[in-house]
Amino acid sequence: MNASLDRRFPSAADIERAALRRMPKFIRDYIFCGMGLGGAVRRNREALDSVGLMPRYLVDAGEIAFDTELFGQHYDAPFGVAPVGMGGLAWPRAAESLAAAANQHNLPFAVATFTMSSLEDLRNEAQSCGWFQFYRPNIPEIEEDLLSRAEAAGYNVLVVTVDIPSPMRRDHDIRNGFSVPPRFGLRTALEIASCPAWALAMAVSGFPVFENLVRYIPAGLGRDEAMNFLSDLVTGHITPEILSRLRARWPGTLVVKGILDPEEAVRCRDLGADGVIISNHGGRQLEAAPSATQMLPSIRAAVGPDFPLIADGGVRTGLDICRMLALGADFVLMGRPFYYAVAAMGDKGADHIMELFKAELRCVMGQLGCVTLAELSDHLMGRD
Ligand SMILES: Cc1cc2nc3c(=O)[nH]c(=O)nc-3n(C[C@H](O)[C@H](O)[C@H](O)COP(=O)(O)O)c2cc1C
Repeated sequence: MNASLDRRFPSAADIERAALRRMPKFIRDYIFCGMGLGGAVRRNREALDSVGLMPRYLVDAGEIAFDTELFGQHYDAPFGVAPVGMGGLAWPRAAESLAAAANQHNLPFAVATFTMSSLEDLRNEAQSCGWFQFYRPNIPEIEEDLLSRAEAAGYNVLVVTVDIPSPMRRDHDIRNGFSVPPRFGLRTALEIASCPAWALAMAVSGFPVFENLVRYIPAGLGRDEAMNFLSDLVTGHITPEILSRLRARWPGTLVVKGILDPEEAVRCRDLGADGVIISNHGGRQLEAAPSATQMLPSIRAAVGPDFPLIADGGVRTGLDICRMLALGADFVLMGRPFYYAVAAMGDKGADHIMELFKAELRCVMGQLGCVTLAELSDHLMGRD
C-alpha cells in the first residue's frame, strides 16, 4: 500500500469526507443521499454496527487467507464493486479507473446499464472480472440488443436488478433540478465553481453522457425528454415469467439483485438464478425497506447453505465485510466508497481503497483468530 496515501486516507470514512468536499452539491446529493429522509441509509449503517463478533486469542492460528470462489471464478478477496449508474459524475472516467483496478486486484467490477461509458469499453478494462448489471428495457428489440452486446463483449455474469418497478421521486434530485447534462442555472454554476478540481477534470474530459445507451434514444429528443425516455425504458416489474425468460436467454451466470424477502430469494433460486444480491439499493428505493444485514440470516436459512448470497448496503470497512460474511453472505459488494475513492484521489484512489479493504480484512481476521472466511460465522454474537 502507498504509505503517503495511507496516512492521508487511512479509512473509507476519510476518503468519503474528502470526496464529498470535491464534488458540487447536486452531484454529492445524487450519490450520497438515500430515499426520503434517509431512513434506509441510516438503517444500513445501524444494522451493521449492531453485529458483534467474538475474538478468540488462545488459538494456534496459521496464515490468513481470504481469497474465495464465486460462480466458478477465483477472486483475491470476498468483495467487489457494486453497479453505480452515472458513477462518472463523481469523477470523470471513475468507472474505467475502478474496472482496471478491479482486474489488477482480481475482484469483480459490476458495470451498470446506466454507465457513462460503453459496456464494451468497460469489459476491456475489467476483463474477466467484469459483471454486467442489467436493467431490463421494456422495448423487446432494445432488451435483445443489450443482452447480445453484453454476451458479445464477453461478460459471463449478468446481474438482473429488480428493485426499480416504478418511477423514482428523489426529493434532493428534484430540488436540485438534477439532469444529465446539467442545467446551467446560476446555482449550478456556483456549485461547480466552488469545486475547481472537479470542474477542471470535467472540462478536460468532457461532461459525461449516457454512452452505453445513447444509441437507443430516439433522434430529436431534448435533454429532459431523453432522460425521461431512458428512465421509462427500464421501469417495470420483473415478473417470474420475465425472469424465467431471461434465465433461458442468458447462457452464463445469472444473479438477481435487489432481493430482501426470504421467499423471493427462494423463488429466484427455483427459477434458475445462480445467486441473489441482497440489497436495498444503498437505501435509494424504499425508505422503509430493511437492510441486507437484517435479512441475511433468514434468507440464508430459507435458501439453504449452498446457494450463493451476495450482500450490500452501508459496508465501509473490512470489519463490515466480516460481519456480512458471518451473517451468511458468501460475498459482499460496495457502491459509494469506490466512487468516492476516485473522486478523492483520482486514478490512484481505486487501487488504494482495494488495498485498504484487504489490509482491514487481514487485521480483523487476525484479531478474531480466523484464518479462513468459513470460520467467521463461528464468531457471530447476538445483536446488541
Ligand atoms: C449513485 C448510485 C447509483 C446506483 N446505481 C445503480 C444501478 O444503476 N444499478 C443497480 O443495480 N444499483 C445501483 N446502485 C446501488 C448499488 O449497486 C449498491 O446496491 C449500493 O450502492 C450499496 O450501498 P453502498 O453504496 O452503501 O455500498 C446505485 C447506488 C448509488 C449510490
